[in-house]
Amino acid sequence: MEHIWQTLPKPIFILAPMEDVTDTVFRQIVAKHAPPHLFFTEFTLVEGLMTKGRKATSRRLLHTPTEQPLIAQIWGAQPENFYAAARELASGEFGPFVGIDLNMGCPERKVVRRGSCAGLINHPDRALEIIQATKAGAGDLPVSVKTRCGTNSWVTEEWAELLLNQDLAALTIHGRIAAEMSTFPARWEEIAKVVALRDRLGKDTLIIGNGDIESHADGLAKAQTYGVDGLMVGRGIFKNLWFFNPAIDQSTIPLHTRLVLLKEHIELWRANWAGQKDFHALKKFHKVYFAGIGDIPQLRADLMQKQTVEETLAYLDAVIAAG
Ligand SMILES: Cc1cc2nc3c(=O)[nH]c(=O)nc-3n(C[C@H](O)[C@H](O)[C@H](O)COP(=O)(O)O)c2cc1C
Repeated sequence: MEHIWQTLPKPIFILAPMEDVTDTVFRQIVAKHAPPHLFFTEFTLVEGLMTKGRKATSRRLLHTPTEQPLIAQIWGAQPENFYAAARELASGEFGPFVGIDLNMGCPERKVVRRGSCAGLINHPDRALEIIQATKAGAGDLPVSVKTRCGTNSWVTEEWAELLLNQDLAALTIHGRIAAEMSTFPARWEEIAKVVALRDRLGKDTLIIGNGDIESHADGLAKAQTYGVDGLMVGRGIFKNLWFFNPAIDQSTIPLHTRLVLLKEHIELWRANWAGQKDFHALKKFHKVYFAGIGDIPQLRADLMQKQTVEETLAYLDAVIAAG
């Protein structure tokens, strides 16, 4: 049976998983206005799904039919919990997903020290156990991995070979090591090494490149230069909400449209998260809606001062009505 990775057009453009950013609300907005080929959830802790924190943890998996195709990204420690989570994801317990992705790239020091996420690069035996346990639970859902090129030193090919031998559906390579967090430029030559290795090993695993993709055109150029099958875009969406639709020049989107979109975001946020998430964390989205529009200091300052959803919506209504 064909799975999602095999059916998408190439190069595949993917919205990266981003904690506290790519939740159901933001994905709904992106899906409506300039959708990528594929979405990922925020990373979701398998141990959290198996304990009394289940309700809070599972809200990361919340989604609507518009955010498709959608892959659930999971992380954690114990292979048996990956197995159980994969079974639940495959059963439709949390709604439909088209695949399961394993986070082996988060560079958070505490997590890496405990041997989870990017820490698995230093514990390959555990990484393989986790992949196998996930595959065993996932049924027909394809399993993929998102990772970096090392923790404190570059071990790109050694690590990638181990992963490629697991016959994953896809492997996303973020061209940095964990110690670099996200501050150094991503090294696409390292990503190209993984493409060459995949070809040498004769594997079908799709290689997705990630790191510093600035625009849709930059993504196409990188696919051409480095031979990747797909492009995963994280922070690029902060600079252009219409990133995934090259026919839209965001500099032509008027302020009025952006205000209406921000209002739409805040209303969706209220419907989904009021009382659960911190209202002030929502303010980081302002920059997304106003990116590329020039200076609007008063508007930005006014919005930052708002203390509640209601105040913000009333302010937006007034500005929109004033034209
Ligand atoms: C705010 C934020 C949250 C992130 N959360 C996740 C996550 O939940 N899972 C994951 O695999 N990567 C996460 N990442 C990493 C991104 O998916 C991506 O690998 C990284 O930002 C590099 O791509 P970029 O240069 O296009 O942003 C996060 C990045 C940011 C900026």
